[in-house]
Amino acid sequence: MSLYQLLGACCLLLSLSSLHAQERNAALLASACAACHGTNGHSVAGTPSLAGLDKMYFVEQMQLFQTGQRPSTVMMKHAKGYSEDEIRLLAEFFSQQK
Ligand code: HEC
Repeated sequence: MSLYQLLGACCLLLSLSSLHAQERNAALLASACAACHGTNGHSVAGTPSLAGLDKMYFVEQMQLFQTGQRPSTVMMKHAKGYSEDEIRLLAEFFSQQK
């Protein structure tokens, strides 16, 4: 078995075993947004709903907030605290909310 095959097998195993942990992680991450965006992204106030947002759109908006290209006092500060991976998890989570 080549080193690359071995690495590939390891990655596959790791990604399988971390799948459940990631789901929990995403819900936990998303709970930090609930105060403003509602439970699971179902907004009841003036804030936009995140539930059902397109993944690509979500990631793009978070990056725009991070770089300040989309100005928002609240979200610019908020988005900066999240890594690329966490944003991808959040995008996945919210896009699945109906
Ligand atoms: C303190 C309140 C607050 C919190 C907490 C908050 N947001 Fe926001 N968010 C806002 C407001 C207000 C807007 C609207 C900003 C604007 O358009 O100027 C917004 C907009 C957004 C948008 C753009 C939605 C669209 O339709 O374009 C995304 C994506 C977003 N927030 C994601 C998140 C995520 C993910 C979290 C949690 C990690 C979060 N927000 C936490 C207040 C908040």
